[in-house]
Amino acid sequence: MSKLWSGRFSKSGAKLLDEFNASLPFDRKLYAEDIKGSIAHATMLAKQKILTEDEANSIVIGLTQILEEIDADKFEFNISDEDIHMAVEKRLIEIIGETGKKLHTARSRNDQVALDFRLYVQKNNLLLPRLLEELIQTLLSIAKENKQTLLPGMTHLQHAQPINFAFHMLAYASMFKRDIERFESSYKRNNILPLGCAALAGTPHNIDRQEVAKLLNFDSVSVNCLDTVSDRDFALEILFNIATMMMHISRFAEELILWSSYEFKFITLSDEYSTGSSIMPQKKNPDVPELLRGKTGRVNGNLISLLTVLKGLPLAYNKDMQEDKEGTFDSVENAIISLKILNEALKTMSINQEAMLRACKVGHLSATDLADYLVAYCDIPFREAHFITGRAVAHAESLGVDLSELSLVELQKIDARIQENVLEKLDLRNSMNARNSEGGTSQGSTTKQLEYFEKWLEERNR
Ligand code: ARG
Repeated sequence: MSKLWSGRFSKSGAKLLDEFNASLPFDRKLYAEDIKGSIAHATMLAKQKILTEDEANSIVIGLTQILEEIDADKFEFNISDEDIHMAVEKRLIEIIGETGKKLHTARSRNDQVALDFRLYVQKNNLLLPRLLEELIQTLLSIAKENKQTLLPGMTHLQHAQPINFAFHMLAYASMFKRDIERFESSYKRNNILPLGCAALAGTPHNIDRQEVAKLLNFDSVSVNCLDTVSDRDFALEILFNIATMMMHISRFAEELILWSSYEFKFITLSDEYSTGSSIMPQKKNPDVPELLRGKTGRVNGNLISLLTVLKGLPLAYNKDMQEDKEGTFDSVENAIISLKILNEALKTMSINQEAMLRACKVGHLSATDLADYLVAYCDIPFREAHFITGRAVAHAESLGVDLSELSLVELQKIDARIQENVLEKLDLRNSMNARNSEGGTSQGSTTKQLEYFEKWLEERNR
């Protein structure tokens, strides 16, 4: 059968052109969206008396059969059909005959692809938050068990102040919550029907776009058709949102990799989610977080790629825009599997509380506490207190101990104003609990944060 658009051509296209031009090998993923959109379109055409009821029924029955065929892997995809839109339409004509040729009334592939692709993105704008919620749930469970687990909080990857592991997990919960909000705000902003714009300028047929919007659960109808068929902002948004989410995941992954090294040993990844080396028998490698970190590269690339494709395109549809899909599919699919596997890796990892505590005993984590003590109890200006504490740290180093282990006598050698009540201030657990300002690491403050996230999740799912 010749191409559906072959009327004005006298020669058929080259085989190489088929291969180059076709999007079918990848846009076949959009078959369910394509069929759903066509069913809504045909239903509206009948309501507007552009098609008869019988014609629309027969189209819907044909399309439903095609959906079943593709679902069951019984549909024959042929690259000469170019894209999913024409593959479905051609099969419809095969199944129901002449009536099938009426489906494309008041429609173009330009608004059709804008619809299918938007439906795909919107579906994932809803799915990704579900997976992120599950991940946050796991972080909250870990946090609940570890409000007392001390570990060194770092800046510049150097020991800074003692914090608890729950506080650290809740930092990631905060990032993933923002990610959820970004996907959902994109969903709301883009829940607009593109169909009915036809090629670029609308159609003379008496269509009812509001009706189609209702059938497809869109909140409204696009305002300007020229914009609608050339708009891929919704795709850029999901690409950016995924890139940001994967950047968060990559930071977490980096910490998991460090923490699972012999140098840290803060966590042990389960055997189920670790891999071995083909040559070094002793190795247990953190391939999961490494791949999670590595995938940031491709999702960033996909965002830049689409931005570049769209840059400078004249209105309205240009074939360049067919390049929008593969990168978007790639980012979405990698985001989904990344969220799932990160969640599993976290659920199955073990937390080595002793190793974290041991790490707290080096690096003078309570130095800020000594400076704060000098300010609060000895009425010393902070800048001076900072200097005195620096000398105390140097003294501890010369004795080969941690600042928290210096005796009162040793501390008083540095500054005679220091009293016995300093010792409790330098205790690591007290140091962590002293930071009880809003959002701080103290156990009380961490508990409040935990409750905040629990309540937020509960309200979402009510
Ligand atoms: N396969 C095309 C795409 O993905 C569908 C739209 C084609 N429109 C056109 N006028 N050639 O962008």
